[in-house]
Amino acid sequence: MQLFRASIAHFPKQTTQFTDDIAIFKDGGLLIDKKEIKDIGDFDTIAARYPAASVTDLTGKWILPGLIDSHLHYPQTQSIAHYGEQLLTWLENYTFPAEMQFADSEHANTIAKVFLNQLLKNGTTTGFVFTTVHKSSCQALFNAASDIDMAIVAGKVCMDRNCPSQLTDCTESAQADSASLIETWHNKGRNRYALTPRFAPTSTEAQLAALGELAQQYSDVFIQTHLSENLDEIAWVKSLFPQADGYLDVYDKYNLVRERAVFGHGIHLTPDEWGRLGESGATVAFCPTSNLFLGSGLFDMTAARANKVHVAMATDVGAGTTFNMFKTYGDAYKVSQLRNDPLSPLEGFYLMTQGAAIAHGLDEEIGNLNPGTIADFIVVEPRFDELTSLRIQQDADFDDVFFALSILGDDRAIAQTWISGNCCYEKSSGNNELQ
Ligand code: GUN
Ligand code: ZN
Repeated sequence: MQLFRASIAHFPKQTTQFTDDIAIFKDGGLLIDKKEIKDIGDFDTIAARYPAASVTDLTGKWILPGLIDSHLHYPQTQSIAHYGEQLLTWLENYTFPAEMQFADSEHANTIAKVFLNQLLKNGTTTGFVFTTVHKSSCQALFNAASDIDMAIVAGKVCMDRNCPSQLTDCTESAQADSASLIETWHNKGRNRYALTPRFAPTSTEAQLAALGELAQQYSDVFIQTHLSENLDEIAWVKSLFPQADGYLDVYDKYNLVRERAVFGHGIHLTPDEWGRLGESGATVAFCPTSNLFLGSGLFDMTAARANKVHVAMATDVGAGTTFNMFKTYGDAYKVSQLRNDPLSPLEGFYLMTQGAAIAHGLDEEIGNLNPGTIADFIVVEPRFDELTSLRIQQDADFDDVFFALSILGDDRAIAQTWISGNCCYEKSSGNNELQ
């Protein structure tokens, strides 16, 4: 048994909406045994309960739950940071060419490892990941994640129209490949599968129907796609699906709007769509760095709250500009300032930990540090350089530490990342390469 001594913060409760009911232990103790968290509390109390535990003293640092990135694209690791486009031309000019390279499974294996390294060095321990149309790209990611027992949710992208021929599947192959990937990977180890139609414009009605059938057959698989990100995209959906009553309705018609469905963006939703999302139990992934980068718009957190819609924070790399979830909240804060409804640091932290885990139905495993959950946690070093040492006081409260790091921080603030009770990344030792 290992006992860690540090300041600790997490949201322990199973609240359906955000409350600021965070648990803070300034001089805290976190006890783990193999893969599992066994106890948490004030250090003196936990130390007295487990006198035989070996103690690791991390005083001055913060232990937090591993961060959850609820929407990103691993094949876009290499195409991040390209100038000058909005969504549709950005996809054509940068994204599709990068994704074509994943026909080569060696390339997929290489990028999968680079991608996971980026997650680890930024403190992200679970990602909801789009792969490419190639089945082997999905296998490459699950294999790399399995090597470190990392909880990944991923799926093969399905597209049977409006994209380059090299990236096009068909209704039958999308259904057969998705079903076979579910059978091989879903709930095997810590892997989980997400049915992944890229977005409505790249799927025919037949393909959406085929994936909707799988969603009903495998009711606990995830669904991930994009929704109402960009005005040109929305106009395109309207012309492709003239019968539908709006963008969300295209998915709804095929049983793709339900709990465990995660919709990227939701920037330009109508009041009816907000209402339907709230009633369905689906989640919207708020991707502020991406929305600013592609000029898509400003997410309406106020509407999400009013409609009791689950929201989870996400990077959306490679339209997103960072793998770092703290910085992602920093941009969410700036978006919320422009909407005159500032998103508090505690709510931001909730949306990348317990709030995301609850939205996805995974809070018995991840998102918090409750006994019985898996030991996925990070060690944060707030005062990692001259400026942060000046700005952040030794005894600063958690919300101030988190906020300052969301503006000033980056991967240098992440000292260690632990997954399933193993230290998979440590900043000082440079031990950040998957073998
Ligand atoms: N819409 C459809 N595909 C994509 C993608 O890869 N990134 C983003 N941001 N939006 C999309
Ligand atoms: Zn995306």
